[in-house]
Amino acid sequence: QVQNEKESMFLVSKYAADWFHGQLKTDEGKAIGYSYFKERGFTDETIDYFQLGYNPDQWSAFTDAAIKAGYQLEFLNKTGVSIVKEDKKFDRFKGRVMFPIRSLSGRVLGFGGRILNNEKKAAKYLNSPQSEIYDKSNVLYGIYEAKQAIAKEDLCYLVEGYTDVIQLHQAGVKNVVSSSGTALTSQQIRLIQRLTKNITVLYDGDAAGMRAAIRGTDLILETGMNVRVCTFPDGEDPDSFAKSHTESEIVDFLTNNARDFISFKSNLLKEEAAGDPIKKADMIRDIVNSIAKIPDDISREIYVRESAAILDIGEDVLFSTLAQVRNSGL
Ligand code: CTP
Ligand code: MN
Ligand code: MN
Ligand code: MN
Ligand code: MN
Repeated sequence: QVQNEKESMFLVSKYAADWFHGQLKTDEGKAIGYSYFKERGFTDETIDYFQLGYNPDQWSAFTDAAIKAGYQLEFLNKTGVSIVKEDKKFDRFKGRVMFPIRSLSGRVLGFGGRILNNEKKAAKYLNSPQSEIYDKSNVLYGIYEAKQAIAKEDLCYLVEGYTDVIQLHQAGVKNVVSSSGTALTSQQIRLIQRLTKNITVLYDGDAAGMRAAIRGTDLILETGMNVRVCTFPDGEDPDSFAKSHTESEIVDFLTNNARDFISFKSNLLKEEAAGDPIKKADMIRDIVNSIAKIPDDISREIYVRESAAILDIGEDVLFSTLAQVRNSGL
């Protein structure tokens, strides 16, 4: 019964992805959706590969088409592509360009929908609601499209947004996935771990991006993965950077700027705490908390020595703080 329900939801999602993509060939879809993607610099090949689409700016164009094609309103509602209220039905993603989100095996689980002109002051991105097939803490945008490249390169780039994945991919950097704006969860990390032990986090060159680069990274350290961080120039994100550089410039930038997470964090904290003893004490505890997450004894020791050098404090202070943190049971 439950299995049948999920199967029906998968069928609805597949139909929706195909339909949204097909809309790019209609008059409205071409003038609005397709030209939007073109403006962002996406090629036809990219648009097809990621099966990007468009939901017309009408109340229920998609929902009506789906019902006509034999899909039941119950499942359209459950997957969240339609919204049913009393006896009325609406398209959730009305007037948005569509990014289908797939499982590791390629099934469509849900969607991200981007607003075009933000005069309505609505959320820039609207995502599918949690459902039996879509759990945002358990999906990574681009994982299906990236999995072979991640295994081959033995490295996974993690970015914030949908368009970062797509633009890097188009530029030839294909081992890239997105956590869609949220801190990485342990389920998402497990998904990546099936393919590689190496992860490089690429966050936006803004304050939110810097915070996000630090938040959630302890979780990756805990799994014993090798974590690097690469930040972009102020105001840039991987999408804008990739759009304005050649493939070899991008690869060079990523290679030259990716830094080990612990030394990245040590440097960042050092800057923040400059000349403030109270902040410096907090910062020592903060960095030690991160180091304490690393499962491997030898790695921890190496990181303590490195951080001590960066922060310009005695190794013994870090070692004793580390012992305290680890004894208190993390
Ligand atoms: N996001 C979201 N809802 C929002 C804003 C952001 O779900 N209201 C998620 C999206 O997955 C988005 C990611 O967070 O891709 C990163 O956000 P942001 O950097 O603001 O967007 P970009 O991906 O850069 O989007 P764009 O380039 O289209 O403006
Ligand atoms: Mn096509
Ligand atoms: Mn941002
Ligand atoms: Mn961004
Ligand atoms: Mn962007």
